[in-house]
Order: sequence, then C-alpha cells, then structure tokens
Amino acid sequence: MTVLAIDAGTTGVTSLIVAEDGRVLARGHREFPQHFPAPGLVEHDPDEIWTAVLGACSDALATAADSGTAPVSCVGLTNQRETVVLWDRATLRPATRAIVWQDRRSAAECDRLREHEPRIRELTGLPLDPYFSATKLSWLRANAPGTWEGVSSGRVAVGTVDSYLLSRLTGGRLHATDPSNASRTLLFDLASAGWSAELAELFGVPEAALPEIVPSSAAVGRTDPEHFLGLDVPVCGIAGDQQAALFGHAAFTPGAMKCTYGTGSFLLVNTGDRIARGGTALLSTVAWQLDGRPVQYALEGSVFVTGAAVQWLRDGLGVIDESADSERLASSVDDSDGLVFVPALTGIGTPHWDPRARGALLGITRGTTDAHLARAVLDGIAYQIRDVVEAVVGAAGIPVSRLAVDGGAAANDLLCQIQADLLGRPVVRPETTESTGLGAAFLAGLAGGVWGGLDEISEARGGGRVFSPREVSGDGYRRWLDAVDAVRRFGS
Ligand code: G3P
Repeated sequence: MTVLAIDAGTTGVTSLIVAEDGRVLARGHREFPQHFPAPGLVEHDPDEIWTAVLGACSDALATAADSGTAPVSCVGLTNQRETVVLWDRATLRPATRAIVWQDRRSAAECDRLREHEPRIRELTGLPLDPYFSATKLSWLRANAPGTWEGVSSGRVAVGTVDSYLLSRLTGGRLHATDPSNASRTLLFDLASAGWSAELAELFGVPEAALPEIVPSSAAVGRTDPEHFLGLDVPVCGIAGDQQAALFGHAAFTPGAMKCTYGTGSFLLVNTGDRIARGGTALLSTVAWQLDGRPVQYALEGSVFVTGAAVQWLRDGLGVIDESADSERLASSVDDSDGLVFVPALTGIGTPHWDPRARGALLGITRGTTDAHLARAVLDGIAYQIRDVVEAVVGAAGIPVSRLAVDGGAAANDLLCQIQADLLGRPVVRPETTESTGLGAAFLAGLAGGVWGGLDEISEARGGGRVFSPREVSGDGYRRWLDAVDAVRRFGS
C-alpha cells in the first residue's frame, strides 16, 4: 500500500508517493504564478493552484507506475494556511483570486475591529492581524460586493486552500476543512473546537458559507476519478502545512517541538490537549485531530527571515554562488570574530514583533571577511530561533528536550550544530526532511489502514542525525540581544 500526499504550499505544489516503511518512492513538483497587483497585495489564481496539483500528482503517479510500486490506497492533503478562496459550488470555478496569507490589504479592517481584539484573542488564540483569513473575508465583503453577493445567496463557497482542493478532488461533493486549518481563520473557537457564531457575526461571514469541520485524520470523502486523474480512493488526511510538519516529525507528545527552515521559519511545540497561552508574542493553534479523539493543540512562533538571509548573501551581495556554499564559507573560520548579523530584513517576529526593525551588521573591523559574514548570517538565523524557542518553551510550561528540524536550510550541518550549541539542546534532523508531505501521508495512512497506530508511524519515520550541543560562552548571545535592541531603536 502507498499514500499519495499533496503539499500545496505558497509558491508550488509537491506531491509524494509514500511507502509503508516511510520511504518517499516518487515525487512531483509544480510551481504556480504569484500575483502582486499592488504593493502589499499577494494573490493566487485558484485554477492555477489546481493545475499545479494535477501536474505534480500525475508526475509522481507516473514515476511510481514506471517503477512498479504498490497502488495508492489513500490521499492526504496539506496546504499553505490562512489564504482565502471563494468558488462557485456548482462549477468549482473560482469566484475571485485567492487572497494570500502574506497580503496586508485588510490592515484597515483590523484597525476598525481593534476594540474587539482581547475577545478575539481569547476565543481564537490569535492576534487581530491581516495575516489571518477572516480579516481578508471582511475586506472582500466591503470591497467586492458583486462577489460577496454569491456568498450571501449560497452560490459561492468560502474556505481555505485545503477546502478548495478537497472540493476539486471530490468533484464538488465535499466542502470541508480540518481543525488545524480552521484554527487559522479567526472564526474558530479553540476551546469548543468549532466555528464561533460570535466571530462569524463580527467579521460578517455567513456560517452557511463555511466548510464543515472534519478530523485531520479520518476517511472524509473519495476522490472523483473524472476530476482527479482517474483515481477513486479515500481522502483520509488534511492539515495546515506547519501542523503537518509537526506530525511528520512524529512529534506526538506534549513538549515535542519542530522548526521548519524555509524562507522564514515556523516553530511549533505540541501542548497536547491543553491550550497554552503565549501572551501577545505567540499563537495558540490546533495541532490536529485524529478520528474519534480530542483536538490536540500547539504553540507557534514565527521568524520572517531565515533561509532568505542566505538568499540575500547569494543574490543581494553575491558572496556565494549557491545557498549550500554558505556552509563551506562559514566553516572556514572558527567564529564570526565578533560580527553580529540581525536578519530583521522585513521587521522582526516572535518574540519582539516589531515591523519597523531593520537588519543590521555590527562589529565590522579591518579584519572582517566574507567568511565572517557568512558565519554571522548562520549565527543570526540560529539566535532568532533560540529567542523563539525560549518564548515558546516558557509559555508552554512543559519540558522540551530537543528540536526536530526540516526545510531547505536544515541541510546545512553547520547551522544545525550552531543551533544545538545555542539552544543547549540536541537538534535532530531526520533522513527525509520533507516532513510536511510526510505528515500529510501519515495522517492519511493512519485513517486509511496503512499504519496501525502512532507507534508504527514513529517507526516508519526513523531516527535521523543528532547534533549534540557543545559548551559555548554566553558572550555571543549577549551581543545578539544588544544588537536586537539597537535595530529596534534605530527603526523607531
Ligand atoms: O502560515 C503560512 C504557512 O502555512 C505558509 O507555509 O511553507 O507555504 O510558506 P509555506
């Protein structure tokens, strides 16, 4: 038996065929266009996302067929979160372009509703910010009345990328989402694990337009062969991509923690069936819900620029030709020789949340070389993650013993070692760092009978390389905190 996992991310769709022993047998990947109609606006064409899904899946299925692997027994789906999609229930065609999580157009809607923020945070665990779905829906309601008319009349469905793709996969038979995705909308009551009528009214979204909330791991529908590559198999897994990555690390118990190093980074710690509150610095969110089991929660912190800092070394400064060269260059010196880099290139996230902060390079001397710079960039990434880990661990109030890592920059051995040293905790990098897609496969395969329980999934996930922490002086971290202070003062 194999599982087809679909990871519909922000810039592209990856599809994996995963075997019972956890190996990835085949993959497909398709990018899709990003639309930037004006500064601060980011849109996707839902049709283009769907085309990328079909392309990535048919590539993976063709490779699997060529190598004679076992047939697909179920499908798991994971996705970029918060992005809103509106589509016609009958034709499945988009009613408008999707408004992407990065889009800031609803800032004024947030300001308008600011007095309600404490109540919103209490119910949802989230701040009132344009990042989340409901503010984008309020914007559409106010600014696209023609489109919204279809929502009010029931012709147009409202959802996130998972619900749109579920609808397409099942030929329109399913309008559903899971609690991990729903918990990013600002319309979901974390404690009761359902839509909040109070918030739906506040944001002006008719509850009837919203998807039904189904477990993250359960047989919820079947793919329609006429719509989806001739496949007629159950859809058994749905989760937001960061939560899927947590599941993909087999981080099933409270205190298990992961960091995905992408352009930016998302760090999540499992808090079990307890909603941990992280003040204004952190997000409380749903991790997942297994079939017939209570909802599990997580605390989340985010860093805007991590892998993007290495890209800046490559594309902005031309110091390296390939991202992977950062490791070789940074390894050629013992340390950064006192150079500190603050990668606040687009403001600073958890735990400081200062959009005005700007990046900085402090401590330059005549002896500073590009190798010191490369080392300072890797240090800066790891310091940011350390700050998030401290915040998350403090708020979660549970022991956290190690950090599991994935994503592009996790391939950098030096970064993993620096991260372990700075955290004083082991960093574990699994052999397959595609934890997001694997998480979707595990969620689906658990309900689809591929794996009999969480133990079997942990076994399929395997161990990975452990980077053990080494003794380091606290001077570097003190310099880092001073530098963060300086960039915040500079920006204000
Ligand atoms: O919250 C946004 C997140 O889900 C996006 O993830 O990996 O598509 O950039 P990614």
